[in-house]
Amino acid sequence: MKFENYNFIGIFDSGIGGVSILNSTIKLMPNENYIYFADSNNFPYGTKSIEAITNIGLDILSHFNDLHSKEVIIACNTMSTSNMPLFKKSFKNMNIIGTFPDFTTIFKKTNNIISNKTIYFDKINGIKVKKNKLKLLIIATSATVKSQYLKKLIETFKNVIDIYIEPADFIVKAVESDNLENFEFNNNLSRLFKEYYDIDYLMLGCTHFPHAEKYINKYINKNTKIITGGDIASYNAYNYLLNSNFFCYNSNPNISVIDNSINEKKIALYMKLIKSDTHNIKFYHTFNEI
Ligand code: DGL
Repeated sequence: MKFENYNFIGIFDSGIGGVSILNSTIKLMPNENYIYFADSNNFPYGTKSIEAITNIGLDILSHFNDLHSKEVIIACNTMSTSNMPLFKKSFKNMNIIGTFPDFTTIFKKTNNIISNKTIYFDKINGIKVKKNKLKLLIIATSATVKSQYLKKLIETFKNVIDIYIEPADFIVKAVESDNLENFEFNNNLSRLFKEYYDIDYLMLGCTHFPHAEKYINKYINKNTKIITGGDIASYNAYNYLLNSNFFCYNSNPNISVIDNSINEKKIALYMKLIKSDTHNIKFYHTFNEI
């Protein structure tokens, strides 16, 4: 398939995780063309070193740059938290948007003016009980958990919100292999959330996790609110095109999925996960086939 220059948005992740962001971006911009790259050869990113992840990112971005992508969404918290300043510096002519485990929306949404004196209430057995801080659990890949980005964010907010962090690379693997009914996987989820039954917010700090939300919901308190950074990434992508007057209206828009390990089973999984009534979807193994 041949694209005219600057007539598609690039999106990538280590696998199918970023499809959650492809979907939220399609909702905002249904007539754009998309190239979705799933880097299955390097899957998973989350257990690699920050240096290795950064080098992979530079390589993928150079492919999108060669194809004249009008912007690229890094639909991956692990990649985005590795070295976003270097990515932006290396490709100055291409708008690059990251996906981050940004929980500051909690405060914007509830309109809470937060200070050290903010008081929250809980209902225990129907009785209103005073508590001092909201509790937030962030789950992410090992690399994101270790990232400077997350360390800084937590440092900034630790006085006003109780933050707990857990690596959960096992969810990435289960989502990628579509193995969510598996007994061991469900056991691991139950073990992960056992001591976090009283949290107010659960941040899904990896784009693979929303695909497992139905299963995660079984093991958390029904009052716990789930948040992700995906919608913010899509909104930033939309906003950039709006401000730069770079929108395209394609009456027959395309999604080209490039996945090094594409096969019948994977195609069926993509077709199940991608939510679009308007796009023609085609599959490729490498960037060279585009
Ligand atoms: N989906 C990715 C993220 O948001 C990476 C998962 C992985 O490859 O470990 O972090």
